[in-house]
Amino acid sequence: MCGIVGAIAERNITAILLEGLKRLEYRGYDSAGLAVLDASGALRRLRRSGKVAELESAQREAELGGRLGIAHTRWATHGAPCERNAHPHFSGDDLAVVHNGIIENHEALRRQLKADGYVFSSDTDTEVIVHLLHQKLDELGDLTVALKAAVKALHGAYGLAVVSARQPDRILAARSGSPLVVGLGLGENFLASDQLALRQVTDRFMYLEEGDIAEIRRDSVQVWNQAGDAVNREVVQYHEGAEAADKGEFRHFMLKEIHEQPKVVQRTLEGRLAQDHVLIEAFGPTAAELFARVRNVQIVACGTSYHAGMVARYWIEELAGIPCQVEVASEFRYRKVVVQPDSLFVTISQSGETADTLAALRNAKAAGYLASLAICNVGTSSLVRESDLTLLTQAGPEIGVASTKAFTTQLVALMLLTLSLGRARGALAADVERELVDELRRLPTRLGEALAMDPTIEKVAENFAEKQHTLFLGRGEQYPVAMEGALKLKEISYIHAEAYPAGELKHGPLALVDSHMPVVTVAPNNELLEKLKSNLQEVRARGGELIVFADGSAGIEDGEGTVLVKMPHIHDALSPILYTVPLQLLSYHVAVLRGTDVDQPRNLAKSVTVE
Ligand code: F6R
Repeated sequence: MCGIVGAIAERNITAILLEGLKRLEYRGYDSAGLAVLDASGALRRLRRSGKVAELESAQREAELGGRLGIAHTRWATHGAPCERNAHPHFSGDDLAVVHNGIIENHEALRRQLKADGYVFSSDTDTEVIVHLLHQKLDELGDLTVALKAAVKALHGAYGLAVVSARQPDRILAARSGSPLVVGLGLGENFLASDQLALRQVTDRFMYLEEGDIAEIRRDSVQVWNQAGDAVNREVVQYHEGAEAADKGEFRHFMLKEIHEQPKVVQRTLEGRLAQDHVLIEAFGPTAAELFARVRNVQIVACGTSYHAGMVARYWIEELAGIPCQVEVASEFRYRKVVVQPDSLFVTISQSGETADTLAALRNAKAAGYLASLAICNVGTSSLVRESDLTLLTQAGPEIGVASTKAFTTQLVALMLLTLSLGRARGALAADVERELVDELRRLPTRLGEALAMDPTIEKVAENFAEKQHTLFLGRGEQYPVAMEGALKLKEISYIHAEAYPAGELKHGPLALVDSHMPVVTVAPNNELLEKLKSNLQEVRARGGELIVFADGSAGIEDGEGTVLVKMPHIHDALSPILYTVPLQLLSYHVAVLRGTDVDQPRNLAKSVTVE
């Protein structure tokens, strides 16, 4: 989604701004721009629709340089994606603002500012911020004081970066609902919406909190909290390998991330398993006592993370014996919810900044849940900071827009949660836990075996290259795996794909099945296998073409109208994690065959920080 970068230094900072924007490209955007204070003290702006590369070549031509500047990649919410609507937005010729988020009262503010004589040159909600700030700056004379006054009038979400030619010794930042991080250098400082943008220049970061305003000068950073008090924010040293933003030997980030799964699953397990049980303390010092009280679990998430929650529902009810509901955050947040007594509220998110999931968590806080738990991949995210308990997935930065390794590590984390809840509630037999802990230890090896099937799956992908529609089937905990398979295929290959619980086929979707409709099925050898086989017969009888990923012992035959891909054997409970891998590879190869932009599919953004 939108990205912010800012820099103040004694050297030319345009290359730093552009490199930062490129590092944020993976989030999705439609235009980019920057504003730099040049040697004559004038604030100069460049904006382009399309890729950051367009902005970069415009910058080369314009030979724009300076020691203070802000930059932005935009993903349109208010106003079409075009140069006129791209950030930075100016008021007069000496004040520039970039903004992530949405200003909800922008119409009222726009009316008022127009009445005061301001002329608008874009359709964005952001432009009201810069004119409002300009008005306050004229009134109050100091940029920092003016920003503190201006944000009081803003309703909605924002991460803001501001520069002005009137006070060229500072960048100002304000955070409410949209993350911002200050990067600390030696005699130079930086600002970004994600530390990844600044990893080239520093490894020391200060995360702004909700309501914070920061004044970033070349050699100092001052922060005020929501109440206006000066505060110190902790400085964190970042250790994650900078290599994450590099594709290495792989053609796409998505393929690299699929192949990282054995390693990151291993990392997600590290330090969380004792010899024969899960260490409940991994969820926090109060988790053991809290989990013993849990009588109900409510999971809330979006997209792929929601699918992880759907799998967990089967696990939590079966292995921990606790009722569990799962809902997409965009619905949950606007619904009047009846909270069961002693309910644990669980959010799942790769980014930890998804607007709907965060809003659901904030609502839940007032609704009387026992506690909130975040399963998240970003330790510094808003979701983690605002939850009572956290279990971090250790997937490392995920650059491909289509989520892969984040999903499988979420499933591992949710299995750890299931086993912890089961033991804390006394519902899980010790030998079952021991067996599953052993299986979890073997999981990275099993995932490696599934990845070794890549050449086979690449061939299977040829069946899809010309197709327009596909059905994905699964039963039990494989139904959400089918949903995730369908989501991956539609996201990156643009083939229409739908998932159904296989038993539901005869209640409607069977009408769609003919020889042009491949039907993908995941079939581990579990107690639902015989029923699933009958569902597959229903498809074959209508001329449907089956692609079945099945356990070698499932007794499903390759042959006329059925392509069988034999999977390594795996414990039933962990099969959703393993069976996800071939579906990821299938989508990837189909997308490559169709020539789509695999890592940045059209219309999508990596981190959906707006509603
Ligand atoms: C799909 C995908 C999205 C995200 C969803 C939630 O490949 O990536 O569906 O899963 O936007 O994002 P997080 O997990 O960051 O909350």
